[in-house]
Amino acid sequence: MSARHAPILGSRLCSWPDEAACTAYAATLALHPALRNAYIELHGPLGAGKTTFVRQLLRALGVAGRIKSPTYAVVELYEQDGLAISHFDFYRLTDKREWADAGMRDLFAAPGLKLAEWPERAAGALPLADLSLFIEPLDNEGRSLRIEAHTALGLELLA
Ligand SMILES: Nc1ncnc2c1ncn2[C@@H]1O[C@H](COP(=O)(O)OP(=O)(O)O)[C@@H](O)[C@H]1O
Ligand SMILES: [Mg+2]
Repeated sequence: MSARHAPILGSRLCSWPDEAACTAYAATLALHPALRNAYIELHGPLGAGKTTFVRQLLRALGVAGRIKSPTYAVVELYEQDGLAISHFDFYRLTDKREWADAGMRDLFAAPGLKLAEWPERAAGALPLADLSLFIEPLDNEGRSLRIEAHTALGLELLA
C-alpha cells in the first residue's frame, strides 16, 4: 500500500526554516525508542532534503563515516549499537526483479529501522509505512513538512 492511499491515523504540519531545523528534528526522532523498529517513507522532489534528513538521523544515532546516497545501489546498510538500519532510494528502480535480487523483502521483514526515498517507485512491493514525511522546498533552506502516521508505532513517533 503506498503512503498516498494509506490510512492516516494522525498528522502534523511543521517547517524547517533552515537545515539546522532538519538536524534538530532528526536528533529528536533519534531519541525515540519506537524508531528502532520503524519504517519511514520520505517524499519530496529532488533536492528536497530526503537524503540530508536520513544523514542527520543516522549521525544522531551514532553512525560515523561516510553516509552515501543509495541512489545507485538502491540500498545502503548500517549497523549501529545493535540496530540494523536500511536506507533505500528507489528513484532508479525500473525493474521489479531488482527488488527481488537485492533481497529487499528480507530486509523489510527483518527487525530494524528502514528509511525509504522515492517509495512511490516501488509501490505495491512495500509494506505500510509507520510514518511518512512529505518535504516541500520553499526557498534556499526553507522546507515545509507534513508528517503522517499510518500505524500505532507511527503515532508514537509523531508525538
Ligand atoms: N532545511 C533543509 N533541510 C534539508 N536540506 C536542506 C535544507 N536546506 C537546504 N538543504 C540542502 O538541500 C539539499 C538537499 O539534497 P538531498 O538531501 O540530496 O535531497 P533529496 O535526497 O531529497 O534529493 C542539500 O544540499 C541540503 O544541504
Ligand atoms: Mg536523495
